[in-house]
Amino acid sequence: MINRRQAIQLSAGMLGYPALGLGARAEPTTVRPLQLIERTIPSSKELLPVIGMGTSRTFDTAGDTESMSRLTQVMQAFFAGQGTVIDSSPMYGRAETRVGDVLRAMESRPPLFAATKVWSTGEKQGIAQMEESARRMDVRDFDLIAVHNLKDWKTQLETLKRWKEEGKVRYIGVTTSHGRDQEQILDVMRSEPLDFVQFSYNIEDRDAEKSLLPMAQERGIATMINRPYQRGTLFGKSRGHTLPKLATELDCSSWAQFFLKFIVGHPAVTCIIPATDKSHHMADNMQANFGRVPDAAQRAEMLKIFESM
Ligand SMILES: NC(=O)c1ccc[n+]([C@@H]2O[C@H](COP(=O)([O-])OP(=O)(O)OC[C@H]3O[C@@H](n4cnc5c(N)ncnc54)[C@H](OP(=O)(O)O)[C@@H]3O)[C@@H](O)[C@H]2O)c1
Repeated sequence: MINRRQAIQLSAGMLGYPALGLGARAEPTTVRPLQLIERTIPSSKELLPVIGMGTSRTFDTAGDTESMSRLTQVMQAFFAGQGTVIDSSPMYGRAETRVGDVLRAMESRPPLFAATKVWSTGEKQGIAQMEESARRMDVRDFDLIAVHNLKDWKTQLETLKRWKEEGKVRYIGVTTSHGRDQEQILDVMRSEPLDFVQFSYNIEDRDAEKSLLPMAQERGIATMINRPYQRGTLFGKSRGHTLPKLATELDCSSWAQFFLKFIVGHPAVTCIIPATDKSHHMADNMQANFGRVPDAAQRAEMLKIFESM
């Protein structure tokens, strides 16, 4: 269970109270529920909550009692914040298994959009890996499988297209991370019937604005954004700085929410997958799933604030 303080913090955020102050200064008359932010998957028009979760490193644990209890609390905070999208990969060590362990132990499973990747060479090996991922994550069929970092992408995408036709997976895609394979991934986006593309984008690393985000928008491909905190290094910059007034105007009560809302404000963004192994950080992240979204002028101001830190 997430503890009482975290539960109050999360629900306070959703009700429009400043979470860190637990609403002590808020006037009851000003309370209004914050709206869940959802984005449409272009290929199906299905709606997804904009904040999901990543599992790289954070869920790669031995499965001991301490880590299982910690990861259970992380997942509870995620579902409490109306998250549904969980992204993993066979490349993340034991992460898929730990996700499955936590899901299996839940009395009832909240709505889940299960995403993993195939990271293998050869058709048979790719299929065996995807079947193993389903067992590990305890899902019958994945909602999304993407080719991880374009590894053997032609072979794996052929299988995925066939699986989609056969109803074994709902969506297919490809992934990359900062700076890798940009030209190649753009070619794949131009030529293949992708539902999703995953890449890095955050307030510091904005390369994706040049080609990846516009191409996704043009081709009607949903985007899943990894490394939203630049692997955590953004917090080194914000440490010691007071949150600006603009943060409150965007229903943000932390720098984490400020960084996520900057990404949410890009119109080509479908879903963002920050990773944490701390339930209070998850509760914090999930507050960015609600409330106001910055427009272009506010995003420009956010950037100015960040660059002056
Ligand atoms: N090629 C690919 O397909 C690819 C590549 C990269 C990433 N990904 C996916 O994207 C996910 C996210 O990327 P990432 O894990 O590299 O980086 P990230 O989400 O940008 O940053 C994670 C770091 O942020 C910290 N953090 C999270 N929430 C916080 C909060 N509210 N306050 C303060 N610190 C916070 C975490 O520390 P704590 O644990 O201490 O909270 C962790 O150190 C991965 O888990 C993975 O699923 C995919």
